Amino acid sequence: MSVSNMRPEGLVFGLAALVLLPFSGVAGEDFGLGVTPTPEQIAGWDKDVRPDGVGLPPGRGTAAEGEPLYLEKCAVCHGEFGEGIDRWPVLAGGFDTLKHQWPEGRPEKTVGSYWPYSSTLFDYIWRAMPFPEPKSLTPDEVYAIAAYVLYLNDIVGYDEELNQDNFAKIAMPNRDGFVPDTRPDVPVGGEPCMKDCPVDTTIIGRAAPLQVTPEDKKEPAVD
Ligand code: HEC
Repeated sequence: MSVSNMRPEGLVFGLAALVLLPFSGVAGEDFGLGVTPTPEQIAGWDKDVRPDGVGLPPGRGTAAEGEPLYLEKCAVCHGEFGEGIDRWPVLAGGFDTLKHQWPEGRPEKTVGSYWPYSSTLFDYIWRAMPFPEPKSLTPDEVYAIAAYVLYLNDIVGYDEELNQDNFAKIAMPNRDGFVPDTRPDVPVGGEPCMKDCPVDTTIIGRAAPLQVTPEDKKEPAVD
C-alpha cells in the first residue's frame, strides 16, 4: 500500500511506528530495511582525526616527499606556495592579519594563521581533498602533503618526519587564539536566558558601514 491511499489513522499509525521502531530495541527482529555495514565499510567512513591525535592512521611523511605530490594534486587550485589561485582557498601565510578590518585590510585565515590544531589539516586532506578526488590519498601521502602545507607556513622543517605519533603534537601558531565564547547571559553550563535577561544589549556594529548590505534601489516608475 502506498502512503497516498492509506486511511488517515493508518498513516498516523505508520508514522508513529516508523518513529518508534528504532527505539523499540526488539532483538533479532528483521524489518527488511537496509543492510548491516561490514567492518570494512564502517572503517571507510570512520576516518575522523581528533586534536589529541586519536584517529591518525599509521604512516609517515616529510615535506620533501610531499612537495611533488602537492604540486601535482593541489597546486592547480591552492597555488604552488599555498597562495591560492583565483578564488580557491589560500593555505599559507596571513600571519598577524586576524585583527585586520575592512576596508584597510582583511583577515587572511589560513592553515598557518588561523587553525588551532594540526589534526584538522590531516583530517581535512584525508577526507576531503583533493577536491575532485576525495579519499584517494594513502596515509603516507597525506602525512607528506600535510607536512608540505605546514612547511609552506614555516611550521615544520623540509626534512622533518611527521607520523602518527608526533603529528598532533605540532604547536600551531594560533593555538591560543581561540577562547570559550561565554555569552554574558549564559552561565557556563547553564540554560540560555530567553526572557527579561539581566544584561544590557549594546549594539557594537552594523553591517551597513561594511557595505555588505545591498542598496535599496527603487524600481523606476512605469507610466
Ligand atoms: C579543484 C580544486 C582543488 C584541488 C585540486 C584541491 N583543493 Fe583543497 N580546496 C578546494 C576548495 C574548493 C576548498 C574549500 C572547500 C569548502 O570550503 O567546502 C578547499 C579547501 C582546502 C583546505 C581547507 C582550507 C581552509 O582554510 O578552509 C585545505 C587544507 C585543502 N583544501 C588542501 C588541499 C590539498 C592538500 C590538496 C591536494 C591533495 C587540495 N586541497 C586539492 C579546492 C581544491
